[in-house]
Amino acid sequence: MPRDIHRIDTQLASFRHDVLSGLSRPRKALPPRWLYDDRGCELFEEITGLPEYYPTRTETAILADNAEEIAEFCGDDAVMLEYGAGAGIKTRIVIEALPSLRLYVPIDIAADFLQLTAERLAKRFPGLRTLPIAGDFTDDLHLPSSIPTTNRFGFFPGSTIGNLDPDEAASFLVRLRRHVGANGRCIIGVDLKKDVGTLIDAYDDSQGVTAAFNLNLLQRINRELGGTFTPSRFRHHAVWNEREGAIEMHLESMVPQTVAVAGRPFRFQTGETIHTESSRKYSVASFTALAAGTGWRCDRVWMDRERKFAVFGLV
Ligand code: AVJ
Repeated sequence: MPRDIHRIDTQLASFRHDVLSGLSRPRKALPPRWLYDDRGCELFEEITGLPEYYPTRTETAILADNAEEIAEFCGDDAVMLEYGAGAGIKTRIVIEALPSLRLYVPIDIAADFLQLTAERLAKRFPGLRTLPIAGDFTDDLHLPSSIPTTNRFGFFPGSTIGNLDPDEAASFLVRLRRHVGANGRCIIGVDLKKDVGTLIDAYDDSQGVTAAFNLNLLQRINRELGGTFTPSRFRHHAVWNEREGAIEMHLESMVPQTVAVAGRPFRFQTGETIHTESSRKYSVASFTALAAGTGWRCDRVWMDRERKFAVFGLV
């Protein structure tokens, strides 16, 4: 199908562009979205089950414990737009609580993973209408006109919004408003600020799964862009950036070295890093203010007892 070929080429070209420009900067950095190739998605799923990685299990419990209220918030005959479809556990909790759901629209950049998730859900909910969309939800993607325009709500769990810097998060929330319409709603999972030790442990686990997740990006560059990275010459590094209010993942060069990507050389000093991800942490007040600045009102907040994580119901 020509459309598929077009999608893949576009992706590869933008991956190449992001890597070449990101490695040319004085402070090397790559957008976190490229961490999620097939292997990256697998490793991230593994991260979500780690003892140190509290966000997934905490958010899942919040959704399960408040499923009735959340369903009430979403309303009857709703259309659910999910941004960045995960393995479907959280999705399942929400769908289960919404027997009148009209349509489920998962949107994800990883097309194969999306397909798998959609198939699993179809088995679990045989009557559910599903319309998967392969695309980057941080782009201005155009939703198919076959999606009913009333009773739409966005579902954005996982604190994925924390990957975006404040400007990007604001434009995402503006876009979300356009997608769901003036009377639409959204449910957003947001990781909260807490002691730095807990945060570092969550992003530098004892089994090294997060390290493998981060280092996999170098293998992806080697495979897809003809890179010459030796992953063992880099190490995973997680650090709290107080000014940004974010945990950062870096890949740190252990030796002075030159690496080529697509035939171009890039020089690394010992200790020089590639910044691969920022995971911002909010307070209830700071997220409410961010949302308010984009025209959303915070109607509900559901939290765990220790206030590690918050699920916002915005209208
Ligand atoms: C999927 C972006 C929410 O920031 O916690 C997990 C990604 N990175 N461990 C996060 C991630 C390292 C995760 N998000």
